[in-house]
Amino acid sequence: MGFKQKKTNLMLEYIKDVLRYILFSNSDQNAEYDLLLKDDGMIFVPIYPITYVIDEAFYNKIFNVLNLALTPEYTLIRPLTMQVVVLETANLSQERGLFFPMRKGTANRLNETMEQIIQRFYQTGRIPIMDIIDWDFVKAPHAIITGVSGSGKSYYMKVLFQICSIIGNSIAIDPKGSDLARLAHKQGNEDIVIPQFISSGNGEQGIGGKFLQDVIKALKNIESIMYERQSQIYQNSDKVSTDYRELGFKPYFVFIDELAALLTGANKAVKDDFQNTLTRLIVLGREAGIYLILAMQSARAEYVPTIVRDSISLRIQLGRINSENTRFLFPELNEMPMVPMGGKGTGIISIAGDSRYSGIEPIATPTII
Ligand SMILES: Nc1ncnc2c1ncn2[C@@H]1O[C@H](COP(=O)(O)OP(=O)(O)OP(=O)(O)O)[C@@H](O)[C@H]1O
Ligand SMILES: [Mg+2]
Repeated sequence: MGFKQKKTNLMLEYIKDVLRYILFSNSDQNAEYDLLLKDDGMIFVPIYPITYVIDEAFYNKIFNVLNLALTPEYTLIRPLTMQVVVLETANLSQERGLFFPMRKGTANRLNETMEQIIQRFYQTGRIPIMDIIDWDFVKAPHAIITGVSGSGKSYYMKVLFQICSIIGNSIAIDPKGSDLARLAHKQGNEDIVIPQFISSGNGEQGIGGKFLQDVIKALKNIESIMYERQSQIYQNSDKVSTDYRELGFKPYFVFIDELAALLTGANKAVKDDFQNTLTRLIVLGREAGIYLILAMQSARAEYVPTIVRDSISLRIQLGRINSENTRFLFPELNEMPMVPMGGKGTGIISIAGDSRYSGIEPIATPTII
């Protein structure tokens, strides 16, 4: 028996030991299932006829137990629904199983210089997130980062902003006029939208009205670039399925930090105008290479309309994770203890639209040295 096979068998034995007294009320039921270990996950194969009921609760129970028990050998990835797979076998009683996606080992935080992180981008064409997780923004457009104050949203926005400025054009909208605006300013970036009282040095005007109108103006500029690109793609490409890359356009990345703060004090008409413009950019932007990266404390529907939230592929929640605060960004998640990584800039992530990632997993954002 090869070393690898031996290790697999040991792991299967361990998993069965872990499940033995927790999963079933009657220990005889342990003979009514088998396990298969694959590169991308584990399959629980019931051996029919069975004397237990398989439902979401049963599936979640296995997930929750193994989530901790397999750390750090494997990282379990929370699927959005129960996953059933069909197995190649002539044996009628074992032809289907429950699939639990998991990743070998754990993903590690990047502790690197900005140059090293950018080097990773050049190697893969994707935006590095952790050592074995990255963001293919063409497949999985737009990003949203939520989390309480001090959880690391602005820090991570800054990292993303620096990478995106190399890939294409980046625009910074920063109601606090803090990290993001300072960074963009330092880079000599002209596309910065910050409240006037910050840029002009007179502190008379609060955020509210005028600033939001400036933001809307900036977004509408991007919107017209989007329509212009769409019409060029339509006129110049013979392909049915194409996007901005075919015509050699560079992507636009629009960063909005503290999105909720933008809306405080604004009147309804202006607020609606903002949300409608944002919605059009998010829903129509992908083909034209317009990507939004939003940060806010909570993705409540009053700040981000549901259609916006549902069209954003990359979702990150930083800081303390509980069922009360995850329901806005991860409504599919009802009771979920994740294995916390701990430390600054840690939380959970999901990337929709990219088959390499099938659910919700822990994240630690890069630390720039
Ligand atoms: N990945 C990280 N590595 C190292 N330090 C980090 C990381 N993420 C955040 N920090 C540190 O944590 C602190 C808080 O981060 P940050 O200001 O980004 O939080 P925030 O979520 O934007 O908070 P607020 O809502 O108040 O703006 C900062 O001092 C920052 O340097
Ligand atoms: Mg911040």
